[in-house]
Amino acid sequence: MLDTRLPELSVPDPTSGPLDPASLFDLPKQALWLEIGFGAGEHLVWQAKQNPDIGLIGAEPFLNGLTSCISAIDESGVQNVRLHGEDARPLLEALPEASVQKLFVLHPDPWRKRRHWERRIIGPQGLDLMARVLADGGELRTATDHAGYQIWMLRHLRADPRFEWLAKTADDWRVRPDDWPETRYAAKAVREGCPIMLLRLRRRPRAA
Ligand SMILES: C[S@@+](CC[C@H](N)C(=O)[O-])C[C@H]1O[C@@H](n2cnc3c(N)ncnc32)[C@H](O)[C@@H]1O
Repeated sequence: MLDTRLPELSVPDPTSGPLDPASLFDLPKQALWLEIGFGAGEHLVWQAKQNPDIGLIGAEPFLNGLTSCISAIDESGVQNVRLHGEDARPLLEALPEASVQKLFVLHPDPWRKRRHWERRIIGPQGLDLMARVLADGGELRTATDHAGYQIWMLRHLRADPRFEWLAKTADDWRVRPDDWPETRYAAKAVREGCPIMLLRLRRRPRAA
């Protein structure tokens, strides 16, 4: 299935040049959303089903995850998802500035060892890539149940003038909104009694 359906669903190779979002979907879309590291794709396909007028791209290099996601796409019949079966970073570089209205990075790898912390996607380099593609007023959603990564995320995101944390009360980062379904990692964290931090941030407008 990967041999046939993955090429059909994939965006063009982003290392070959800039991508034009409008050319990626059969029908015109109101907006472009992107999920980085979608795992098995349950959140990606749920969002696609709820939002047929939105074009979604999911990036995930893990082959088992891609296979599960393609099955979910085909079972649900959604027509508004494209995939990138590799590292998300070249994709972020190939998309036009300010072209993405929502960006999901759910339970990214926490890279537990200190010497690997620089690989964390929510970190200085990753945030540069994300801030570039997000449209003014666009939204970044991220979540983690890893206590050390929670502190790291808050430190980097709150220090970054390009992002505004939307939480006004503790429930805003503790209670799951209706339009943010659980992923596999989230369900596992709940089973194991690990509190999940859910962050919603707005891309501040670029200076005029
Ligand atoms: C801990 S899993 C979480 C999966 C899913 N988001 C969930 O919540 O169930 C992190 C995922 O991010 C993917 N990943 C890690 N680095 C990535 C990158 N640079 N680009 C795209 N995906 C990445 C991994 O392959 C893995 O599937």
